[in-house]
Amino acid sequence: EKKFTVSSFLDSKEKGEKITMLTAYDYTTAKLLDEAGVDSILVGDSLGMVMLGYDSTLKVTLEDVLHHTKAVVRGCNRALVIADMPYLTYHISVEETVRNAGRLIQEGGAHAVKLEGGEEILPMIKGLIRAQIPVLGHLGLTPQSVNMMGGYKVQGKSEESAKKILRDAKLLEEAGVFGIVLECVPDRLADYISKSLKIPTIGIGAGAGCDGQVLVIQDMLGMYQNLAPKFVKRYKNIGEQIKAGVSEYITEVKAGAFPQEQHTFKISDDVLEKLY
Ligand code: KIV
Ligand code: NA
Repeated sequence: EKKFTVSSFLDSKEKGEKITMLTAYDYTTAKLLDEAGVDSILVGDSLGMVMLGYDSTLKVTLEDVLHHTKAVVRGCNRALVIADMPYLTYHISVEETVRNAGRLIQEGGAHAVKLEGGEEILPMIKGLIRAQIPVLGHLGLTPQSVNMMGGYKVQGKSEESAKKILRDAKLLEEAGVFGIVLECVPDRLADYISKSLKIPTIGIGAGAGCDGQVLVIQDMLGMYQNLAPKFVKRYKNIGEQIKAGVSEYITEVKAGAFPQEQHTFKISDDVLEKLY
């Protein structure tokens, strides 16, 4: 099947076809998502929380994302793989930003990178695009700014905040990003922004007016149960299935009911007799 590329992002919007994106952090999961037909896989810095058990995304390093990106890329055939740039890997200088993103592309094998923020990081975004690295923007609730925002809150509710998000979205489009993630913004604002841009918006907690949707795989499959934001739809309860499977295994091993005949290897009587 034809690969989903950054051009496919724009084509999809023009054709009115919604773009599907999910996160993945390992080979096995990425392969399942790719085979199921998801358009794009994000190696999000959410991996800090769902894979590494941190309480925010701020501790995630470039090496962490690089490691997981390599695994995801090996599992993908059609999906576009986007690597998240961690906190402090694009905040210092354009030069450091290009070097760090370049590693995610060159060593990691990602097709594109994602950065959180608007006007403040515009020089970095322009530097990346000059270096031929496709960029996905991320506006609204930007979790790496949790300390500045004073918590994880819906963004763009006030006139000032809504205007800033709209202005940032237009600046990012002009700079040449191929899409923008809108996280936790009111649905009618996301809808208005989506209609104001030629590039697609990918929503998470931003309503049905976005040109695509993204969710964290552990959230939508019910594997990460620490918190359940309002915008998550739990499509399956894999967490409960994992626990049920594991408890069945424990019961059977304790009872000597596993393994059975079909799970074992044979030795001939001749060889065995020589041991006596
Ligand atoms: O890290 C992540 O998973 C993300 C998505 C939720 C957009 O940035
Ligand atoms: Na992220």
